[in-house]
Amino acid sequence: MRPKNPCEIMYGLLKGKKGIIFGAVDERSLAWHIALACAEEGASFVLTNTEAACKIGNITQLANEKGWVVLPCDATNVSEINNLYLRAMDILGGTIDFVLHSVAQSVNLRRHREYDNLSYEYFLKTIDISALSLHKILQTALKLDALSEGASVVTLSYIASERYVEGYGDMGDAKAMLESIVRQMGATYGRVKKVRINAISQSFVHTSASAQWDKGGQFKKYTDALSPLGNASVDDCANLCVALFSDLMKGVTMQTIYNDGGLNTSLLTQNLMELLIDIV
Ligand SMILES: NC(=O)c1ccc[n+]([C@@H]2O[C@H](COP(=O)([O-])OP(=O)(O)OC[C@H]3O[C@@H](n4cnc5c(N)ncnc54)[C@H](O)[C@@H]3O)[C@@H](O)[C@H]2O)c1
Repeated sequence: MRPKNPCEIMYGLLKGKKGIIFGAVDERSLAWHIALACAEEGASFVLTNTEAACKIGNITQLANEKGWVVLPCDATNVSEINNLYLRAMDILGGTIDFVLHSVAQSVNLRRHREYDNLSYEYFLKTIDISALSLHKILQTALKLDALSEGASVVTLSYIASERYVEGYGDMGDAKAMLESIVRQMGATYGRVKKVRINAISQSFVHTSASAQWDKGGQFKKYTDALSPLGNASVDDCANLCVALFSDLMKGVTMQTIYNDGGLNTSLLTQNLMELLIDIV
C-alpha cells in the first residue's frame, strides 16, 4: 500500500526526473495512480489527454488540486504530439526522462460489435489509438530529440495480446501490435540514446473503461482466483512503473513485464477450484 499522503516523498526514486503522462481521465485511471506514485517519488510531469476527455472526465479538476498542468493532445495526431513535447519541455525545463503511454479505446467494443462483425473503420481507429499512438509518440520524440539519454517509456498492455479472452475483441489485436512496437522501437532507441521501452501486462482492474465490460464483476473474481498472488492492484502497477522509470532498471528494455500475480503462467489454482465448486 502506498502512503495516504500522495505528496510525501518515499524514496526519491524519481527525484529530478521530468515526465509526460498520457491517459488519466479520472481518479480510477491507471495513469492517475501512476501519476500519484511518480509525484511521491519526486518527479515533475505534465498530464495529457484528448480535449474531449479533459472535458468529460474530472482530470483537469483533479490536476488543479495538485497544482499539475494538463495539456490537451490527441495521441493519434502527430502535430499535436509535436506541440505537446515542445510545451512540456518548456514547462518542465528540459528534455523528458519518462513517458507513460496509458492510452486505449475500441469503438467496436463500446458498441458491442462481435469479433466476426467488426466495423473496419472502428478497427483502424482501435489500432491507431491503442497501438500506433505509441509509435507516433516515440517517432515524434526521436525527431525532436525530446527524450533524455537513458529515458524510460512504459506502455500498458494486457494478456489478451497473446491469449484469447472472451469479449476483448479487436483490442487483443491492438495489444499484440503495441507489444511489437515496444520491441521494434526499443531496439532503435536503445542504440541511439539508451532509452528503455517496456510494456506492463497488467491484471484486470476496474476503471471507467474496463468496468463496463465486467459489469457483474465475475471476470475480476475469476482472474483473482486464477492468479496465485491474486490480481495485481493499481498500486502494484504504479510501483512497477516507478521502478521502470527509475535508474534501478537501466538494463531492462523491449520487454512485456507481467504484473498479474502469476496469471499468465497459471492454468488451475486451489482458489479457482474452490470457486468452481461453489458454482458447479
Ligand atoms: N483496466 C484494466 O484492467 C487494464 C488492464 C491491462 C491494461 N490496461 C490498459 O491500461 C491503459 C489505461 O486504461 P484504464 O483502464 O486506466 O482506462 P482509462 O479509460 O482510464 O484510460 C484510457 C485512456 O485513453 C485515453 N485516450 C483514448 N483515446 C485517446 C487519444 N486519441 N489520445 C489520447 N488519449 C486517448 C482516454 O481518454 C483514457 O484516459 C489502457 O491501455 C488499457 O488497455 C487496463
